[in-house]
Amino acid sequence: MKRLIFATNNRHKLEEVRAALAGRAEVVSLAEAGLEGEIPETADTLEGNAQQKAEWVWARGGDTYDGCFADDTGLEVEALGGAPGVYSARYAGEHCSFDDNIDKLLAALDGEDNRRARFRTAICLIERERGMRFFEGAVEGQILRERYGAGGFGYDPVFMPDRFAVSFAEMPLEVKNRISHRGLAVEKLAAAL
Ligand code: IMP
Repeated sequence: MKRLIFATNNRHKLEEVRAALAGRAEVVSLAEAGLEGEIPETADTLEGNAQQKAEWVWARGGDTYDGCFADDTGLEVEALGGAPGVYSARYAGEHCSFDDNIDKLLAALDGEDNRRARFRTAICLIERERGMRFFEGAVEGQILRERYGAGGFGYDPVFMPDRFAVSFAEMPLEVKNRISHRGLAVEKLAAAL
């Protein structure tokens, strides 16, 4: 079976992706591949960041593994011209908390009736045999006016996906993973391996 490095040390992402790729590829984390250090993430698009991270990993693990992949996610809010987008993690500043980001988002949308938003994930896969490919997953929804639910992470308490009446933070994790931006992108990755 192929052995691919996933450019993450996030245990939750690792479990989610391992389950999705089971039987198709063995997924190795950065720590398991012995890769340390800060991966640069300085592009101004999700695809650019995913590519930058995948290339960083490939340059260090390419001689031992069959390939590697990296993901990058952003929340794109229509009324904010697609912001915070690629800057979602540090919307309220470097080293800010999820709560800081949500506070800033709710303030930016105060009095705004257009609450349309989507989460979008880009995955960049580099394989020895087939070169570089990109996969995308997106989930459309809206930004709520206050927080609901205690599950998930990031902007989950204020994001309600279309066709559901609850926020991401109120859903069982299996349901969120099935319909989420990352879940859909990983499904495409799995189908392509
Ligand atoms: P990353 O590229 O997966 O690290 O995601 C960047 C940022 O987007 C995170 O710091 C979160 O603020 C936000 N984000 C990514 N995925 C999710 C999600 O599933 N729910 C809520 N927020 C998310």
